[in-house]
Amino acid sequence: SEEKPLSGKKVLITAGPTREAIDPVRYISNHSSGKMGYSIAKVAKRLGAEVCLISGPTCLEVPYFIDSYIRVESAKDMFEAVLEKYREYDILIMCAAVADYTPTQSSQEKIKKTQDKLVLELSKTPDILDFLGHNKQPGQIVVGFAAETQNIVDNAYEKLLKKEADVIVANDARRAMGSDENQVYLIFKDKPTVVIEGKKEEVAKELLKRVCELLEK
Ligand code: C5P
Repeated sequence: SEEKPLSGKKVLITAGPTREAIDPVRYISNHSSGKMGYSIAKVAKRLGAEVCLISGPTCLEVPYFIDSYIRVESAKDMFEAVLEKYREYDILIMCAAVADYTPTQSSQEKIKKTQDKLVLELSKTPDILDFLGHNKQPGQIVVGFAAETQNIVDNAYEKLLKKEADVIVANDARRAMGSDENQVYLIFKDKPTVVIEGKKEEVAKELLKRVCELLEK
């Protein structure tokens, strides 16, 4: 049987994309499958943690063996769900590919194609990871993800400092999205970068072990 390094610990995970409504039938979203976040939830449970998964829309099976599962649609919904829960968790892993922008006003009725040009105004969504980094509870560990297409490590390190996360898990967006495998860099503020490669579940396990080492004994 496996060791349970996370027993007695509570882990909150966000996963999947968000959907930002344009009108009742259309939305803005991205290619996130949710696989990485769901793998982390599953492995965290196996390693003994109490697990809450807050998920945007995905095709993945609901992991009923975890302790709590909250389904959300938009970035705003996800932020509200996190706000309600985060204080009581030891480890916060923000794996979701949250939309950065949302339509400023979503139309109540379906938009008709009467205009040759249509301009959509977008507004920034709340940055959940940034909020958590700046509102850490004592002893809490905040983990963020960074899907980059260039200068992966440098961009991720900048993100770590700006959002005051304890760890950023950086990967190549083109390679990671939808795939069952992943190669990631764990970037810390004052520890050397760690490279992990393998199936998303293997990556999740190694990531959780490294994060566990950051918890105060
Ligand atoms: O700044 P960027 O979106 O690249 O940062 C990615 C990280 O921030 C991920 O951990 C993602 O879950 C988180 N994020 C968030 N809320 C947003 C945007 C990103 O929590 N609105």
